Amino acid sequence: MKIAVIGATGATGRKVVERALELGHEVVAVARKPERIAPAERLTARQGDVFDVSSMARAIAGNDVVISCIGPTKTFPDDSFMSKGFTNAIAANFSPGTVMSQGIQNMIEACERSGVKQLVMQSGIGLSDGKELSLASRCALGLNRRILSKAIKDKGIAEQAVRQSNLNWVIIRPTGLHDGDATSDYVSGPATRVAMSRLLSFADCADCLVRAATSEPAWVRTIVNVGR
Ligand SMILES: NC(=O)c1ccc[n+]([C@@H]2O[C@H](COP(=O)([O-])OP(=O)(O)OC[C@H]3O[C@@H](n4cnc5c(N)ncnc54)[C@H](OP(=O)(O)O)[C@@H]3O)[C@@H](O)[C@H]2O)c1
Repeated sequence: MKIAVIGATGATGRKVVERALELGHEVVAVARKPERIAPAERLTARQGDVFDVSSMARAIAGNDVVISCIGPTKTFPDDSFMSKGFTNAIAANFSPGTVMSQGIQNMIEACERSGVKQLVMQSGIGLSDGKELSLASRCALGLNRRILSKAIKDKGIAEQAVRQSNLNWVIIRPTGLHDGDATSDYVSGPATRVAMSRLLSFADCADCLVRAATSEPAWVRTIVNVGR
């Protein structure tokens, strides 16, 4: 299949590109700075900013499916303490802006303009109402929702836009992610019970996102939890 990955420079997006190529797909990696994408066979890098619908529509044109791995980022000067990974991620989530609410709405419009019919959106388990989770996970979820309330609100608007769209959409809600190896030792599916205390690797999350885009027709127009 032809797959466009938005947020291809991010921690999950990079792994999605790798996994899709491994499985033999043709991939368009979309990034604000496409020069950051390492060349590979069957991979094309295109420029696109989710705040600019026209750049998005151009970047995704000709693909069968779009996988969104965008998220809030903060740009502190490269050599500053605040630019270091963890601090950067915390700062981004405390002050997320509208990259999800506005960015995903623009992505839906770009799909409509360019004739792409399928969208897979990486969201987060923080959006769950917790019904399918254990008591311990529901407590952790409550804490998570309080601490990351702004980021969750922004993502909630994005999820709603996706659910109301006419696209063949899948929303993927991973638990916390980390930089481990691909294991395939994860659970996924609509209303699947996942443990908030067990991290999932970016690589396993990427595998789930590529499955949603290519080989899980029963997931279309559903919200899928992924975790361990
Ligand atoms: N990390 C976790 O533990 C975790 C857990 C659950 C859910 N999630 C969610 O999953 C998603 C991806 O997470 P991640 O940790 O892989 O994110 P990440 O490493 O922070 O990557 C975010 C990506 O979004 C891109 N982006 C930001 N603003 C953009 C814009 N205006 N136009 C185009 N691209 C833009 C960034 O591009 P640049 O390189 O140009 O900045 C980057 O590629 C996020 O929504 C996150 O909240 C993350």
